[in-house]
Amino acid sequence: MLVRLLYASRAAAPLTDSVVDTILEQSRHNNPQQGITGILCYSGEQFIQVLEGGRDEVCELFNAIVRDPRHAGVRILSYEEIAERRFGGWTMGKVEVNKVNPSLLLKYAEKAELNPFTSSGRASMALLEELLATGAVASRVS
Ligand SMILES: Cc1cc2nc3c(=O)[nH]c(=O)nc-3n(C[C@H](O)[C@H](O)[C@H](O)COP(=O)(O)O)c2cc1C
Repeated sequence: MLVRLLYASRAAAPLTDSVVDTILEQSRHNNPQQGITGILCYSGEQFIQVLEGGRDEVCELFNAIVRDPRHAGVRILSYEEIAERRFGGWTMGKVEVNKVNPSLLLKYAEKAELNPFTSSGRASMALLEELLATGAVASRVS
């Protein structure tokens, strides 16, 4: 059975490329073995991540992620059983919000910034799907 989980969190310290790259390297190493796909979206101080895969695998990974000291204040924005993946092309794609077209952010929020803590889970998911559709998701660590 497949599930999709979306959460947001606050970085423990202002995010550097090195922190993000390490997380992406871990994800791209571990996720294929667990059949997990998704994308990690981040700004200077927060994350949104969507995880798709088997229920056990997604829940086990989420448990590990919640305990990770590199972030805090994890909030589940959405959890659902799914018939098919939407982010299946990505072992863990990355989106740096600062590089996203501001008009896209404005489409789903009051200001052109990432604000998952005050937006609905539905709006955050819609934003991630549109990022995917517009080609804003990068696959490589850069
Ligand atoms: C925001 C965030 C997202 C993460 N996403 C993943 C992920 O998708 N897959 C993964 O294996 N680890 C992810 N991690 C890292 C895990 O918390 C944990 O450090 C890692 O799975 C341990 O892997 P290792 O046993 O190979 O060192 C993430 C961490 C953070 C802070």
